[in-house]
Amino acid sequence: MPRTTLIFGANGGIGTALAQIFVENGDQVWAFSRAGTRIAGAQNVVVDPMDGTALKAQLAQIDVPIDQVVVATGGLHDAAGRGPEKTLRALDADYMQAMFTANTMVPAMIARQVLPALPRNRRSVFAALSARVGSISDNHLGGWHSYRASKAALNMLIRGFAIEMARTHPQHICLGLHPGTVDTDLSRPFQANVPEGKLFTPAQSAQYLAKVLERAQAGDTGKCFDWAGKEIPA
Ligand SMILES: NC(=O)c1ccc[n+]([C@@H]2O[C@H](COP(=O)([O-])OP(=O)(O)OC[C@H]3O[C@@H](n4cnc5c(N)ncnc54)[C@H](OP(=O)(O)O)[C@@H]3O)[C@@H](O)[C@H]2O)c1
Repeated sequence: MPRTTLIFGANGGIGTALAQIFVENGDQVWAFSRAGTRIAGAQNVVVDPMDGTALKAQLAQIDVPIDQVVVATGGLHDAAGRGPEKTLRALDADYMQAMFTANTMVPAMIARQVLPALPRNRRSVFAALSARVGSISDNHLGGWHSYRASKAALNMLIRGFAIEMARTHPQHICLGLHPGTVDTDLSRPFQANVPEGKLFTPAQSAQYLAKVLERAQAGDTGKCFDWAGKEIPA
């Protein structure tokens, strides 16, 4: 039986590439997004994951066990075009709220609905795209306060969800993933300083991430890994 994979943010740069790879790998793919996608071979589901009732109704349509859920939503700029803060003086409550919604609350609200629905008697994976800059111990540069904090909070949620899931779903693996620096709308304004060869195409990053997901084991649950499968410290 093909593996069932749900991908959220499936219209984003990395989300689209991930959905395509999972289709190529033979998975049965449900591609969730707010705007809709056209990924050949995937079921296109249009839903705002912050609308709990609508999300629940869409998930209820999936009548096969879910093996894998990947959340590729997130943001670095808000609707007003504001980007990451260089100093604490630049902190803005609206921007901060947008970062916590996109990077922390959206994955959390998806997890709230899908984690309890995962099968208890077999391996399952929930992975949310985080970022290396969400590591507290690795923060030696400062700046990007809201984005960093929203990803650090996401990493904490992943840890908490992993602990809770281990009680009922012993084969479940809950992960944060750093995709590398990837050529998408999100990173475009910051690509100038990326060293040669370090800017991945979405397809490249998705390929690396798919391998990390493939190799993940129960002992990895609650942790964050980069595209190369290396653990990122909390
Ligand atoms: N690109 C990089 O270099 C890089 C590096 C480190 C980490 N990441 C992380 O990787 C993830 C994907 O990034 P990307 O580069 O693929 O960005 P992207 O192309 O801008 O895609 C972002 C996706 O998130 C969705 N999204 C944003 N805000 C949302 C909200 N409030 N509710 C629901 N969906 C929302 C977008 O959907 P809409 O079209 O509906 O807005 C879109 O599908 C993010 O979590 C990002 O932080 C990226």
